[in-house]
Amino acid sequence: MLTLSKKQTKQKQKLPAVQTPFYLLNCSIIKQNAKAFVKTASKYFTNFDVFYSVKTNDITAVLDSVVKCGLGLEVASLRELKKALKFTKKIIFNGPCKKRVELKLALKHGVLINVDNFTELELIKRLSKQLSSHAEAGISVRLGIRYGVGKHGFDKTSFFDAVDKALQLGWLEALSFHPGTQLNMNKYRAALTAFFDVVSDLSINFKLIDVGGGFADKARMKTLNIKLDDYFIALCDLLKHYHINAKIIFEPGRYLVADAMQLITKVYYIKQNSGKLYAVCDAGINAVPKLSLAQIEIEKLNKQHKEKSNKKTNKKQNTKQRQVRYIITGPLLFSNDVLGIYNGNIEINDLLAIKNVGAYCYALAWQLSYKKPHIIVE
Ligand SMILES: Cc1ncc(COP(=O)(O)O)c(C=O)c1O
Repeated sequence: MLTLSKKQTKQKQKLPAVQTPFYLLNCSIIKQNAKAFVKTASKYFTNFDVFYSVKTNDITAVLDSVVKCGLGLEVASLRELKKALKFTKKIIFNGPCKKRVELKLALKHGVLINVDNFTELELIKRLSKQLSSHAEAGISVRLGIRYGVGKHGFDKTSFFDAVDKALQLGWLEALSFHPGTQLNMNKYRAALTAFFDVVSDLSINFKLIDVGGGFADKARMKTLNIKLDDYFIALCDLLKHYHINAKIIFEPGRYLVADAMQLITKVYYIKQNSGKLYAVCDAGINAVPKLSLAQIEIEKLNKQHKEKSNKKTNKKQNTKQRQVRYIITGPLLFSNDVLGIYNGNIEINDLLAIKNVGAYCYALAWQLSYKKPHIIVE
């Protein structure tokens, strides 16, 4: 990972002198997003806490930024747990395949474990007994039970049984749920309604209710014409409707980091095929995998400079140039290695900024034919 000096950051506005492709990370955006999330949530909730979903982007500078803003960390593996423990003890552990070694470490540090299945519950019971006979100060066992649909957590019928078992152990602290990702308001409301329907059937007052993530990134919110407030308003209404007074835990991922990272890629070739114009770049879906669901925007880094000079020389030609439609493609031998469309004027050696790639892109980036692009922290 490289860090740009102030001088380099200024130069970058013209042409970065660093080898492409690379991700450019801006931690001040993450801090702004984290503060905005907490500030907006405070308008609607008095008792809540926020845990950043580490899998969304686990770059050290990202974790450092969110923890500095007072957030905890939500992890899903030993690697993430070890990394998180370097920053904080405020951790939630999720995942359907938690191994003994992971559970032991989580138990030792009093991490809140969101349990996924009955075998895991039994394993936690056994491990905690073993650990308390060895640990000097004993261990603190915090348990959450995860309600799920599909492969995650306990389904509606087994959920009640799981809650019973966890209550008998005397550790049950939280109920948890995760509604999905990049959600519109209808999907968010529907998912949480299904969860609260089950929770209210239990008629137990829980200390914590973990409602997971699901908040769209800012670009998608703009497309959907919604604000962060809308998610909180929907949740508030549901909590009132179901008479739930627990402390609320949020696990946002993409909202906090999506717009904090861009991918800088260079145009190597421009070619015409079957009447279409292609700009071939040194990064494509290997660095911005479709699975990330990133809502990207493509911008030319030296655009303003070129358009200004064009204006002076030839107005007519400039208008024509701006209307050219380029298909932005990457370096892979895959025909779906297409990032998107750019309408404007592109030349060989131009640098393109692929914006909004802070969430799930670096984590999911492929090492196919090429290494993952390096990261530069502004
Ligand atoms: C359990 C859990 N919590 C939180 C998140 C973060 O979700 P998002 O990035 O949509 O906010 C995820 C993402 O998949 C998740 O699985």
